[in-house]
Order: sequence, then structure tokens, then C-alpha cells
Amino acid sequence: MSSDSSAKIETVLQEERVFNPSDETINRASIKGFAQYQKMVNSAKSDPQKFWGEAALEGLHWFKPFNTVLDWTDPPFARWFDGGKTNVSYNCLDRHVKQGKGEKIAIIWEGEPGEVRKITYKQLLEQVCRTANALKEIGIKKGDLVALYMPMVPEAAVAMLACARIGAPHSVVFGGFSSEALRDRINDGQAKAIITADGGFRKDKIISLKNAVDSALSGNSCPSVESVLVVKRTSESISFSPGRDYWWHELVPAQSIDCPAEEMDSEDRLFVLYTSGSTGKPKGVVHTTAGYNLWAHMTFQWIFDVREEEIYWCTADVGWITGHSYIVYGPLSNGSTTVMYEGVPRPSNPGAFWDLIERHKINIFYTAPTAIRAFMKSGRDIPDKYNLKSLRLLGTVGEPINPEAWIWYRDVIGGNSCPIVDTWWQTETGGVMISPLPGAIPTKPGSATLPLPGIEAEIVNAEGKSVDVNQGGYLVIKHPWPGMMRTVHGNPQRFRESYWEYLPPINGSLVYFAGDGARRDKDGYFWIMGRVDDVINVSGHRLGTMEIESALVSHNSVAEAAVVGKPDDIKGEAIVAFVTLESGANHNEKLLTDLKVHVSTEIGAIARPDEIRFTNSLPKTRSGKIMRRLLRALAAGEEVKGDTSTLEDRNVLDELRK
Ligand code: PRX
Repeated sequence: MSSDSSAKIETVLQEERVFNPSDETINRASIKGFAQYQKMVNSAKSDPQKFWGEAALEGLHWFKPFNTVLDWTDPPFARWFDGGKTNVSYNCLDRHVKQGKGEKIAIIWEGEPGEVRKITYKQLLEQVCRTANALKEIGIKKGDLVALYMPMVPEAAVAMLACARIGAPHSVVFGGFSSEALRDRINDGQAKAIITADGGFRKDKIISLKNAVDSALSGNSCPSVESVLVVKRTSESISFSPGRDYWWHELVPAQSIDCPAEEMDSEDRLFVLYTSGSTGKPKGVVHTTAGYNLWAHMTFQWIFDVREEEIYWCTADVGWITGHSYIVYGPLSNGSTTVMYEGVPRPSNPGAFWDLIERHKINIFYTAPTAIRAFMKSGRDIPDKYNLKSLRLLGTVGEPINPEAWIWYRDVIGGNSCPIVDTWWQTETGGVMISPLPGAIPTKPGSATLPLPGIEAEIVNAEGKSVDVNQGGYLVIKHPWPGMMRTVHGNPQRFRESYWEYLPPINGSLVYFAGDGARRDKDGYFWIMGRVDDVINVSGHRLGTMEIESALVSHNSVAEAAVVGKPDDIKGEAIVAFVTLESGANHNEKLLTDLKVHVSTEIGAIARPDEIRFTNSLPKTRSGKIMRRLLRALAAGEEVKGDTSTLEDRNVLDELRK
């Protein structure tokens, strides 16, 4: 494969640029070259039990080794590493301190107002032990669920690890969710305690978390909750309920630093994390101890390949799976230095991310395509003001990245030399499933490339038959893997039906359906087309909304685009595009026609939008995902129904309705 960074994108479907790993990248990588990757793939395939068994013995500390690697006698309910005893907090802390790494920085934290805290592994272990003892003091026992509703402060990571230490599964609820959403999640999981803060800083404002907790609990609406532990962060005045509420700074520092890690069974629950299904109420995705720990550990090592002295930063919030696996568990299990940042880029500090990279000399940076597109929109002048030379690897996660954003990321942020890892995965998969390994796999802009060793991914049609090269279909995983979700909390039937019985078995075996459409190119590379509900069918042709969006975004005037299908008597579905423009661009009839022609030229006449609507912003969840469900309703002229609680800015809906 050849490398050609200057080629112009003709169409998204025909994106053909390939970036081979540089010699420098290969030389420093642990997995060097495609042949080594292939060798790992082959050994995982020929003897998965041996492959995962060895990985688990090497990657984790065991109080007692396991008897079996995988028990798949009752699919889709997998049991990994049965008989083994381990503890995730021990793997993330004690073993590094025991190996003489106690003085190494575990967490570099920066608050939005600018304060910085650096916490060594030894200090983190002590804080986790104290917090674990505090939890015991307020009556939390092994097996009790603890809800976390926290800002991005180190105490969030400390609390997660403290729960893991005593075997109390956590349920982290993103701090941007409303009190109603919090209440639903508390009640679904029957949380016994809540760990929160008075508030947090976000976009130069204060978010009042404790008030939201009070409303969630008001009128005895969460009877399972016995206590609330409150971190003081903003010092705003809050109400306190004696006997139920405790200040962290009073309870925790008074505890002993001695708290041996509970010896957990491999399949004991580590956490529940709620995620939206296609309809209905959020699903509590259950992850268990050993398999999840191993998956976060190995995938972090394989993909980011962090060296001892390097500094790694993932910009997610701990309220999402990315924060769980790649701010807390993956980096700490590997003994790396992980950065936590409370803030986001905002008008008062649009260069916040680049400033952090410059000051902390960050080497590995992992963020979301939506952020990259926002940076593109505000122009390269902002990042160009900072020294980003410390960077050596860039990552993206959460949605398909359009080739233009990928190239911009590589050029402007990565100085044209950092490899990009486009990592495909989900809350349900626990960790990354499809991604380049920087020293082994050539990258193509917009493709998550190839499955990790041990992951057998395929594209099939509704009958479960493999589709041809470049044909869109359902992305499925054919074998269980250690990091897979174990069930939907309280609803095993939903787990079975939505993930494992959506498509027919292949060769008699159940397959995991991820909910995404994808295609594979002639090199076997995976191109994620978006959720299947985002795939539209126009006159019998299947199109990824993402491909049309990508084409639109490749137009100079377009900053961001969201495309949805709208019922059409003749074609089945018609294409509606919601478009935000670059500053300075005028939305007039001419541009409208230009954009339609542009899409026809980029992909084909079949993809030409029937309707383009200009808007100042798109409706997004607080995690940055465009809520296409709302756009579909608007495009169809229907009332917007269902849950809009995850919407970041409700005004966007009103603007779009106009
Ligand atoms: O549609 C895929 C998209 O995000 C979904 C999973 O969302 P969530 O569970 O919130 O987890 C997000 C962080 C892992 C997937 O079904 N997605 C995630 N990563 C990518 C992606 N789509 C394309 N490319 C990716 N790299």
C-alpha cells in the first residue's frame, strides 16, 4: 500500500489514501509491523482459550488463578476466568506501588479555573483506601451498588477505585444528566449510596450537582439510598440532610490508609453503566471484574502503547464508558500517567485543549470527532498558537470521523506526523474492538481499519450471510471476548434479544450485533456507516447518512452536517440534510444548489439531498452525539416525541422548528 497525503478526496466511498506507519513509529512500537499483528490474530483464532488465558495471567494480578478461561455453555451469558480471584483496584494501584512505582504520577488533574493536582500512585492508593474505609463506615458492603454523580475531579476516579476495592459495583451517572435521569438510574440499580459534589465548573459556570441529588431523592423517591457523600468543589451553599449526607473532607481523611483489596470472583460485577437503546428507557450495561479489567488493560496497551515516561490524555468524561476504560481503568492498570481535565474549550478559552497539551507535554491525545470538527470550524489559528510537538499519537472515538476531519487532525494537531487511531467500540463492548495498532496497521482516513486480535468481526445481511466487498450490512462480532457486557441489569431477556438474537445464528452460533452498519473494503478494512437506524434506503440503495454528511462537510462552506431519511412515497426514503456553515459563509439559494451538486459529485446522484436546511447548530447529546432521532422527526414534520433529557441545548430544537 502506498502513502499519499496530498491526494484529493474524490468521493468518500472511494477514499483511497493510505498512511503507512513511519519507521520511527514501527521502531518504538511494541507490536511492530503487520506480520506481528497477523501472528497475534492467528494465535487468538487457532486457540482462543490459550490466547486469553495467557493474556490474563500476564496482564492481571491474581489472588487465585482461574480454572477455566471461557465458559460459553449458556450463550449469550459468558463466564470468563471462572474460579479466579482478583481485584481491579489492586491491579490499578497496589501492584505498581509494590513494583517500586509509588512515586510515579498516576493522575495529572486540571480544574477548569486552572488549578493543577498531581497524584502519585502511592498517594492514589492511600486515598482510595481511605475512601474505601469511609464507604464501609457508612454501611456499604460487598455487592451494594453505589451511584456516582460527579464533576471531573480526581475524587471521581478515587471513588470508582474505592468501590472496586471493596467489591461494591459503581454506577456512574454523567454529571450533565438531569435529576430525573439520575433518579431513574438510581432506582433501576437500587443504589445504596450516592457519591457527589456540591457542584462542578463547566464552561465558566457552576453546575449544581448536590441540588440535583436532593431533587432526585426528594419525597422518598429513591428509597434504596441510605447515604450521600459530598465532595466540596465549588463551595456554593447547599443543603445538608443530617444522618444521610456526609462531607467527603470530614469523613475520608479521618480513615486509615489500610484497606486490603477484597478478593473478588472474576464474574463479580464491577460496574453498571446506563446507555440509550434505540427506544425506551436506558439499559444498564453490566461489566464484571476480570474480563473487563483485562480488556481495558490489553486494548490500552495495544493501541496507545504508552511508554513509562509518557503522558496520556483522554478528553472524555468519567460519566461515559470512554472515561471508565480509557481515563481510569486502562491507563491505571498499565501504570501510566493519565490526565483528567474538568473543563472544555469555551469562548473564554478556545485553545484550552492545546494549552493543556503544551503545558503538560502530553504525548497521546484521545478525543471525539465532534470536537475535531468544532476545532476545524473555528480555524487553525487557534491551535497554531501552541507548541504541540510533544504529541506522538492521536486517537478518536465515539462516531465515524469524516476523512476531512481526520486529515485536519493529522495535519494541524499532529504536525503531519502523528498516527491516528480511529477506535470503534461501544459501552457494551467494554473496550476498543476495531482500531489500527499504530506500529502495525496502515491507516485510511475515515476507517477504523481492522479488528483487534481475538475479535472476529464481520458484515452480514439480515439473513446472517456475509456481504460482498463494499456492500453495507450489519456489523457483527462472532465470538465472545473478555470485555463484553454480561447482561442488561435486571433484564437478561433484553440482553439476549437486542444483542444476540437480532440476527439469525451463523453456523449455529449466536452472534453479537453491535447496532452499527458498516462495510469492508477490498483490504478488509472496516468503514462504520453509523447506527443501523441511521442507514437510509433510497430507491433500494443503501446509503450511510455519514457518507453524505462527510461529502457535505468536504465542501468549503460547511462546518457540520447531519443527514436523516424522511419517508417518501416513491423512493422509500428521501434525504434531508441539516447543515451548519463555516463562519462567513452565506446560506442562499446558490449555495443550496451547490451543495446538492457537490454531494452528487462526491458520492453519486443517488445521494443528492432532496432537502437541505441551514441551521446555526445541531441538536446534540451532552456527550456530543447528534440526536438524529429528533432530526428525523423534524424532517418528517412530526412532533418530537420521546426522551430529550440528554439534549445539550434545548434551544436548538426551537430554532430548528422555525
Ligand atoms: O455507532 C457507534 C459509535 O458509537 C456507538 C457506541 O456508543 P457508546 O456506547 O456511547 O460508546 C461510545 C464510545 C465508545 C457505536 O455503536 N462509534 C463509536 N466509536 C466509533 C463509532 N462509530 C464510528 N467510528 C468509531 N470509531
